[in-house]
Amino acid sequence: MTRKGFIFDLDGVIVDTAKYHYLAWKKLAESIGISFTEEDNEQLKGVSRVRSLEKILSWGNKELQEDKFMELLAVKNNDYLEYIEKMDESELLPDVKRVLHFLLDSGQPVALGSASKNARKILREVHLYAAFEAIVDGNDVTNAKPDPEVFLRAAEQIGVNPADAIVFEDSLAGVQAANIAGMTSIGIGNPKILHEADYVFSDFTEMSNEFLHKLIHQ
Ligand code: BG6
Ligand code: MG
Repeated sequence: MTRKGFIFDLDGVIVDTAKYHYLAWKKLAESIGISFTEEDNEQLKGVSRVRSLEKILSWGNKELQEDKFMELLAVKNNDYLEYIEKMDESELLPDVKRVLHFLLDSGQPVALGSASKNARKILREVHLYAAFEAIVDGNDVTNAKPDPEVFLRAAEQIGVNPADAIVFEDSLAGVQAANIAGMTSIGIGNPKILHEADYVFSDFTEMSNEFLHKLIHQ
C-alpha cells in the first residue's frame, strides 16, 4: 500500500456554486446578445473565467477588443461575487463534510484543486479553509483544465505521486485533467456527462466510507 492523497475540486463538488456561475454567465451573455442555456453552461464547468468568456464569444461569433473583454470579465465576477457574498455552511453539498472528515480522521492528505480565483474566499466562508493541507486555485496556475497542471501541483504540494492521487470532480474538463495526470478520477454528478471518470457518484451521499477505505488501502 502506498501513501494516497485526495484532491477536491471546489465549485460543484464542495459547494453548490455552479448555479451562481450559470446565472452570472447567462446575464452577461444575454447582455451582449448571445443566448445561453444550461447545456452551454455544462461546457463551462471547470473552465477558467477567461476561457469561459472566449467560448461564449465564439458561440455568438463575436470578437471584442481587449479592454472590453476585461471589462466583461469584471462584470461577470462582480455579479458572481454578489451571489457568494453571503455564503455560509448551508451551501455545502450533501455529505461533503462526512467524506472530508473520514479522510482527515484516517490521516489522509487532502488538497484543493480548483480553477476558481475565488476559491480561498469561498473556503473561508464555509469554514473549510483549515481542512486543506494545500490549496491550488486559479491564481496559481497558467493552464486551465483539462490541462492537468492544477492537480499535478496539488499532488506535489501534499507529497504524493500522481498515480496515488484521487480526484473528486463535477466537470468533464476536470475529469479529463485528472485522467491526463494519471490520477484516479471520481466524477460527482451525471454519469452520462462524466463517463470518462474511473468512478461516478451522483453525489457524496452515494459514496460509502467502505469505498473510501478501499481507495486508501488499494
Ligand atoms: C470553476 C468553475 O471551478 O472555476 C467555473 O467550475 C469557473 O464555472 C471557474 O468559471 C473560474 O472561477 P472564478 O471564480 O475564478 O471566476
Ligand atoms: Mg467544478
